[in-house]
Amino acid sequence: VERTLSIIKPDATKRNLTGKINAKFEDAGLRIVAQKRIHLTKAQAGVFYAVHAERPFYDELCEFMASEPVVVQVLQGESAIAKNREVMGATNPADAAPGTVRAEFAESVGENSVHGSDAPETAAVEIAYFFSGLELVG
Ligand code: GTP
Ligand code: MG
Repeated sequence: VERTLSIIKPDATKRNLTGKINAKFEDAGLRIVAQKRIHLTKAQAGVFYAVHAERPFYDELCEFMASEPVVVQVLQGESAIAKNREVMGATNPADAAPGTVRAEFAESVGENSVHGSDAPETAAVEIAYFFSGLELVG
């Protein structure tokens, strides 16, 4: 089985959508094996999204991720990375397939309700950024 790092972003926690988003993950067969609510500092968000440091939206992205609490979680299942990204939908909600989290809940390309790791290597790094091995209860 595979694991992936998911974040329910500030726009979604602010609107009390955590349960509805988790229901979509669970309905797709993903198991939430770790989960916590945290309020990132802008610096912590910056480290997490360091890969985007040169992009024009980086500062805005870090401000947004630190604007309200987030829920960080580890999802486990067969092909969890791809499955999660399928449930999330396209980055821009205007392009997201019907029924996906972003089609239903995202407000814009920036405030798009969820993050999901994009590859096994990034999933391992991102999970380790937020969780110790003891916190993953499969
Ligand atoms: P993540 O799962 O959050 O990594 O989304 P993604 O893999 O679908 O998109 P990507 O990694 O390319 O971008 C990371 C995040 O940066 C996105 O989820 C958005 O929150 C934000 N982002 C991407 N493009 C834009 C943009 O054009 N404007 C703004 N404001 N934010 C953007
Ligand atoms: Mg990404």
